[in-house]
Amino acid sequence: MYWTTRPRRSYRGRMAVTSPAPVRPEKPVAQGFPRRLWASTVGKKAVMAVTGAILFGYLLAHMIGNLTIFFGDIDGYGVFLRRLLAPVLGYGGLVWVIRAVLVLAVVLHMTAAIQLARRSARARPVGYAKRPRAQGGYAARTMRWGGVIIALFVGYHLLDLTAGVLNPHGVDGQIHANVVADFRHWYVVAAYTLAVVALGFHLRHGLWSGLRSLGRAPSRSAAAALVVALVITIGFLSVPYAVLFGIVR
Ligand code: HEM
Repeated sequence: MYWTTRPRRSYRGRMAVTSPAPVRPEKPVAQGFPRRLWASTVGKKAVMAVTGAILFGYLLAHMIGNLTIFFGDIDGYGVFLRRLLAPVLGYGGLVWVIRAVLVLAVVLHMTAAIQLARRSARARPVGYAKRPRAQGGYAARTMRWGGVIIALFVGYHLLDLTAGVLNPHGVDGQIHANVVADFRHWYVVAAYTLAVVALGFHLRHGLWSGLRSLGRAPSRSAAAALVVALVITIGFLSVPYAVLFGIVR
């Protein structure tokens, strides 16, 4: 039999005096190494780290690719990507492989995050009398909302700059013209700013916790995570603001 317990909060900041929380029986042990890994907390954390690293690698490459709008030909960059490995995968084939890997990484990253959050809520049925402020506390508390904002943004962004249906120009292959048509409007820039800032906080906390798991010192992890998150945030936001202020036309 299962008991469902709601988290019991201490009241008026004092320690809660409650009866011991009923323990949920363990599920039968999953068979096979991948299943056992996925069933364990450490395995889910490893999945979050690996998929987070894949998504981070994509973001870094995407940000650098976007910066070609300042120095070169962003339309040519799109063609270059689609020609990569074309003899093996066909024109644009690599882009589809990357899309499949990204979708899988996002699904695993989100599933592991939700399951880990539920598991830790079950393991702590009595609320802390006073929760200690962790390093990067604000980012940690906003991880969930950050994740939701980023997921909504990616849906909008694909309809905007990949499918072109929400873009004022929206012509396939005319990346420069599509980007400029978008960011002439302050409200589009505002929407992108909200999403990219949420992404920055999300990255900062994710990187910090990944570096801590790898055994880095807390202060060094915090500094490295902050610098990397700022570089990604500023790198992405440079394009919309350059268009808004007429630097890129
Ligand atoms: C704010 C600055 C950003 C700009 C100017 C921008 C620009 C673009 C453009 C022009 C494309 C279409 C590329 C093409 O057709 O080859 C694209 C695709 C995409 N972007 Fe962004 N992007 C930005 C931020 C982001 C962020 C923050 C994310 C993730 C959280 C993201 C995720 C994607 C994805 C998943 C695609 C689809 C790639 C594909 O076609 O498979 N972008 N972006």
